[in-house]
Amino acid sequence: EKGGFASFMEKEINDQPEAVAQTLLGRAGLDGKLELDELRIDPSLLKAVDKIIVLACGTSAYAGQVAKYAIEHWCRIPVEVELSHEFRYRDPIVDANTLIVAISQSGETMDTLMAVRYAQEQGAKVLAICNTNGSTIPREADAVLYTHAGPEIAVASTKAFLAQITAAYLLGLYLAQLRGNLFSGQIRDILADLGKVPAKIQAILDDADRIKKLARSMSDARSVLFLGRHVGFPVAMEGALKLKELAYIHAEGFAAGELKHGPIALIEEGQPVFVIVPSPRGRNSLHAKVVSNIQEIRARGAKTVVIAEEGDTAVQAYAEHVFYIPETPVLLAPLLATVPLQIFACELATAKGYDVDQPRNLAKSVTVE
Ligand code: BG6
Repeated sequence: EKGGFASFMEKEINDQPEAVAQTLLGRAGLDGKLELDELRIDPSLLKAVDKIIVLACGTSAYAGQVAKYAIEHWCRIPVEVELSHEFRYRDPIVDANTLIVAISQSGETMDTLMAVRYAQEQGAKVLAICNTNGSTIPREADAVLYTHAGPEIAVASTKAFLAQITAAYLLGLYLAQLRGNLFSGQIRDILADLGKVPAKIQAILDDADRIKKLARSMSDARSVLFLGRHVGFPVAMEGALKLKELAYIHAEGFAAGELKHGPIALIEEGQPVFVIVPSPRGRNSLHAKVVSNIQEIRARGAKTVVIAEEGDTAVQAYAEHVFYIPETPVLLAPLLATVPLQIFACELATAKGYDVDQPRNLAKSVTVE
């Protein structure tokens, strides 16, 4: 059942091209129009939405943070992302025009379920993005968009994460289609780019030897930092979470722009820092800003491990190690940049002799508050 892999986690990392492909499958017509009748929610309700709140925990919450960038950009609807267990204790502002998007692999996370119930009591509609057919959260939600990642067995989430981002992007494009925020040609182009993601993930998987070797060489690390900006910020946090969960190493993800406001004080000789570098093709100056962050930490002795887009030679001068991901539009990059970080954490934990499928103290779905 592990398909020849040493662990479910390794198998699930390798399942990711399929998880993304299956989540896309059958949801766009040949004309490039999205068909999400399966949502079974009155489209006029979705048209009236003036705020989205994503509720989730753990890795699923990071999927929500990635989706915020895309949905706000495409739909011009404000998106808040909140940990389910914080949400209902802060007197949140929710009404009939608020769409709650509950993201949960298992559909059974009690914190998220309670937050969903609370939001419904306040009159909000709830759309669940879920990987488990017929589980509690999608049953109680007003609408469901299933991720088709297949069963995820390893406690630490991998393929569900990429499938959640994919599904949330489909939702964003659908809202943009309904509300007329994007032209149909734009939606068609983005769907075509999404369609190319599985093969690009496969290319990263086929070329994993170097990152695995690096992981084995770093098994004594006591702390690893991750920096990212824009959509790379939640990717950095997810990379750090994987390392905490699997290898029990202190790890933190930071927004690269925040470096000078605090985290740079942590940098000392030999401190490993992963940097997720935005595409140099982006129409903003973020690439240059993150490259200068790499210079700053390198000058203070950091050991820099860079994830960058193929062809980005500017990073080479300051990076001890560079791992390239295939070219893709900026908003889709998390579907690629996350993969080397998953492989790194899985391999490092394995090198330390830990059970990557059943990390200590964790459960696959937490059904208590
Ligand atoms: C945690 C799991 O307890 O729950 C994480 O260990 C997961 O892997 C989180 O991301 C949220 O779970 P779910 O099922 O609601 O996505």
